[in-house]
Amino acid sequence: MASIVKISSADICQSDGSVILQNIGLEIGEGEFIYLIGKTGSGKTSLLKTLYAALPLDTGNGEVAGFNLKSVNRKNVHLLRRKLGIVFQDFNLLTDRSVEENLHFVLRATGWTDQAEMETRVEEVLNEVGLQGKRNSMPFELSGGEQQRVVIARALLNKPPLILADEPTGNLDPETSDDVLTLLRNLAKQHNTAVLCATHDYRILQNFPARIIRVMNGNLIDDDN
Ligand SMILES: Nc1ncnc2c1ncn2[C@@H]1O[C@H](COP(=O)(O)OP(=O)(O)OP(=O)(O)O)[C@@H](O)[C@H]1O
Ligand SMILES: [Mg+2]
Repeated sequence: MASIVKISSADICQSDGSVILQNIGLEIGEGEFIYLIGKTGSGKTSLLKTLYAALPLDTGNGEVAGFNLKSVNRKNVHLLRRKLGIVFQDFNLLTDRSVEENLHFVLRATGWTDQAEMETRVEEVLNEVGLQGKRNSMPFELSGGEQQRVVIARALLNKPPLILADEPTGNLDPETSDDVLTLLRNLAKQHNTAVLCATHDYRILQNFPARIIRVMNGNLIDDDN
């Protein structure tokens, strides 16, 4: 299996230079679905941020979607980000714009220019997440679960080979959490999209079993090994 993420001998550091995870290795295959679990403050979000180059990788090696994390810089980081779908709670929807405008905003920011192509793509992703009727809704007119599906739709715009999700069910009730997980799992299967999903939600680990990587004492423990 070809890999979409390959990290070796890497230190994960915060922006103040403190080392959060030391000498870690991680390999994710194309289309693979993986949970990232661990206590509050253990370093899950820091790892995800390193993978999308919001935190620098200074020690060790890292390759994500064909990009060497050590040679990613301000000028080319958008090329890496175009290959990633990011589902983060602090990557909120823009509240003063409709669903459609939120999605167009991301398309323009990632280099799309053809208006007709943009409209087609927006319609496609809204269909994929079951929100075709909501393109003109404002975020505040949507439920939490619907907003989360818009965030997933936004992550899908550029057909990324890798989705990084940070507690995607964080504020959702059990049934809506299951819907979001079903959606992510189906996307992973249908489009061969790899998903790395940080979660505290033990319900979904049970209901949707997959490989689990545990962050503990500054290390990664892979339940597969
Ligand atoms: N911006 C920051 N600057 C400095 N240190 C930070 C910053 N953000 C987080 N940290 C520290 O990095 C460590 C790992 O935090 P991180 O957010 O990666 O944990 P987490 O596993 O995602 O936790 P949670 O489950 O609560 O989301 C913690 O000790 C935290 O205090
Ligand atoms: Mg976190």
